[in-house]
Amino acid sequence: MAQNPSSRTPASRPQILCLAGFMGSGKTTIGTLLARQLAWRFVDLDDRIEEAAGLPIPEIFERLGEPAFRQVEADQLRAALGRASESKESMVLALGGGTYAQAGAPEFLRASGIPVIWLNPSIAVLLARCMTMTGRPLFRDEATFRALYAQRLPSYQQADHRVDSSGQPAQVVAEILRFGIISTGHNETHLVVDKPQP
Ligand code: S3P
Repeated sequence: MAQNPSSRTPASRPQILCLAGFMGSGKTTIGTLLARQLAWRFVDLDDRIEEAAGLPIPEIFERLGEPAFRQVEADQLRAALGRASESKESMVLALGGGTYAQAGAPEFLRASGIPVIWLNPSIAVLLARCMTMTGRPLFRDEATFRALYAQRLPSYQQADHRVDSSGQPAQVVAEILRFGIISTGHNETHLVVDKPQP
């Protein structure tokens, strides 16, 4: 399989791909694997938020409150995109579960020309994953989890692509690559081995 070994190929335009989806949808796992396959940088917005605030996410919620968290999140989204375009380095950016549901976020990313992929396993899978994970202040119980998911659906549905991320991460990555949205900048497909699905 031909692979462009560098994310800094000078002649090609840096590309940015965002992964959106609810808590437990696999944004970090899939994003890490996808970036590794593409030899792109992987950035997890939650990490950037924690670095900027100097606090772990649960403490940001506890000490500063959700509105302050959302402000840092929005600022760090813009900062991450700005850094990627300055560094001319292609990047897979995993958003936080609520980032794409913030007012204006889908429009902002669309206007910036950044494709967004919505990772969308079944709610049963999301629940099962989140039950066993800690550090998610917005995961309280099943009823509020389902209500928040339903509330955010209209935002996620604005993504450019949707993939069921219930299965094996490698298969999810292969499916994303089949969308045919990743190019070398030379009118060639990049790591896309199959034709995009119609
Ligand atoms: C949040 C999801 C979390 C994190 C924060 C808020 C949300 O990200 O940003 O706890 O609003 O759904 P993950 O989806 O990566 O867990």
